Amino acid sequence: MQIINTVCGIREAINAWRVAGETVAFVPTMGNLHAGHLQLVNRAKKSADRVVVSIFVNPTQFGLGEDFEAYPRTELEDQEKLEIEGADLLFLPSVSDIYAPDVKTIITVTGISDSYCGSFRPGHFSGVATVVCKLLNIVQPNVALFGLKDFQQFAVINLMVRDLNIPVEILGVDTVRESTGLALSSRNAYLTQDERMKASALYVSLCAARDAILAGSQNYEDIEQKAIQSIQKAGFQADYFFVCRSSDLKKANLDDVDLVLLVAAKLGKTRLIDNVYFSK
Ligand code: PAF
Repeated sequence: MQIINTVCGIREAINAWRVAGETVAFVPTMGNLHAGHLQLVNRAKKSADRVVVSIFVNPTQFGLGEDFEAYPRTELEDQEKLEIEGADLLFLPSVSDIYAPDVKTIITVTGISDSYCGSFRPGHFSGVATVVCKLLNIVQPNVALFGLKDFQQFAVINLMVRDLNIPVEILGVDTVRESTGLALSSRNAYLTQDERMKASALYVSLCAARDAILAGSQNYEDIEQKAIQSIQKAGFQADYFFVCRSSDLKKANLDDVDLVLLVAAKLGKTRLIDNVYFSK
């Protein structure tokens, strides 16, 4: 696996593949790789001739007082995992490789970026959209893969790619879970042993809400309230739990068929998000 730190370097390497007629799949990450990321790499290998992974802890998607400094950085272990998984190239830029000191351009996908996680983390999705746009411009992949655990992020990126006519196919890959149901996330590293046990309550609440809807329950507000009560009872402080339609993340109406349940909640100091999506 080649490891490249600069934008020029990566363009050169990828250009050589393109000249040879090879296609490129891209997996952007912030590192601290777990089985969910490796599943993205695995899918990427099936989607193109070459796989590029980036590791960049993007400062612009962290708000004031969030965990940018503390975010787990495990570069050597990550490199080993990517070698084993068969990635072709790791792009490991520094902040100054990605952002000019007087950066003037940010990308905001309006509307969708302000709701749910956006209302608890102002500016977060602009940071995500901006860095993903830059990374897509640098790598120019045929296909880019993102985990569906970050369902709202996936929706924001799809809209940005559509609106800016970025020539790339965006693929969403299913969430990988522990046997307890807890969705894999780099932030699980912050959980204590005790919190880790309790954390599965998030997925339990999602499944209970989904099952209630599938069983014919039509009172979505009641379902949301019950879910919030159940996660608070498990020790979480709930940010939100909503029944949404998966196409645009608007609150679901009773005639919407494709739904996603979105939840975010804090357990101690750790903020976790999760979702389940299904069709009625
Ligand atoms: O999902 C992530 O890891 C990040 O938000 C992403 C897409 C790599 C952008 O920094």
